[in-house]
Amino acid sequence: MTEKKFIPKPYSNSIENGSFTWSSPSNIALVKYWGKKEHQIPENPSISFTLNNCKTTTTLSFSKNKNNNNFSFEVFLDGEKKDDFKPKIETFFKRIEAYLPFLKDYHFKIETSNTFPHSSGIASSASGMSALALCLMSVEKQLTTNTAVPSAEEESQNESFSIQKASFLARLGSGSACRSLEGDLVVWGKHKDIQGSSDLFGLKYPYQVHQNFKNYQDTILLVDKGEKQVSSTVGHNLMHGHPFAQERFKQANKNLSDMVSILKDGDLDKFIALVESEALTLHAMMMTSMPYFILMKPNTLEIINKIWDFRKETDSKVCFTLDAGANVHVLYPENEASEVLHFIQNELVAFCQNGQYINDKIGFGAKLL
Ligand code: PMV
Repeated sequence: MTEKKFIPKPYSNSIENGSFTWSSPSNIALVKYWGKKEHQIPENPSISFTLNNCKTTTTLSFSKNKNNNNFSFEVFLDGEKKDDFKPKIETFFKRIEAYLPFLKDYHFKIETSNTFPHSSGIASSASGMSALALCLMSVEKQLTTNTAVPSAEEESQNESFSIQKASFLARLGSGSACRSLEGDLVVWGKHKDIQGSSDLFGLKYPYQVHQNFKNYQDTILLVDKGEKQVSSTVGHNLMHGHPFAQERFKQANKNLSDMVSILKDGDLDKFIALVESEALTLHAMMMTSMPYFILMKPNTLEIINKIWDFRKETDSKVCFTLDAGANVHVLYPENEASEVLHFIQNELVAFCQNGQYINDKIGFGAKLL
């Protein structure tokens, strides 16, 4: 399969203007993506839980652009004009223009808002880029829909192609965004044991998942809400020539193979060991790159130690994972929700900035509103 599949045939319709709104979730990786090749191709496959409550809602309004030599768009966050978002979107548009040749024909107004607080340290690029990609796919759909009523089978094929292309486009905005369209587990990156997996787009996890993972909970502890000192783009680049890179990429492939069995058998002890090791390995890669950097804060370590103590003292299956930042995602099965929440409130909230945390859980994917 190649990128060519996503270059459309000439459009059959013409439209003057319109508007679409999509809401897209954030995701949290269990096996992490860290390191990429050219064109946003990941160095190793990854798998994530789609979240339910952390979302971006984007309305894309469009009208014919008279001077169509350049991209023309404006961006608003919570109703406020955000010119500092424009360079990232301009780069995104340049990367996807070959796949959406209508981009210069319209002026776009992009209005976006997040369900999670600003500068919470929760990256909005995954949910943001996937919501925008879905809005753009809705425009393309209008440009291509013909008048004949499609059969149910055609409709479902069109639907799955559309999601796949939206994931392909979102990847070109922010790698992990391609895992933010569907629920509840998504794989991105070619892996020998996962049929249909691809470096080009996310794939809804196609195998059996044990009941233990149903409604899995994720409480995000906001340890540090400041801007990251090192962007993930810079971090990914530091994997080029990293002394441990090749071993790390091999390990991620093995961990994903192991994860397939864990998800099938519901072995929570193995799940905990794999997920926590992945989180610490991600940060170990950062600490051993040149230049090196540390995104964890003292309170990140305090929380990790408290979680380990709590597990030792109780039979809890609570564990943690980390993103590229200081915040801690506390993961636990639904049947432990009340005990773990109690533990979080009593022992962990003290380490959060202004006592802030967000209760989330595994979710079902993006929605057209
Ligand atoms: O999508 P990016 O380029 O911001 O990379 C994010 C990578 C991690 O969040 C650290 C891990 C992952 O797989 O989501």
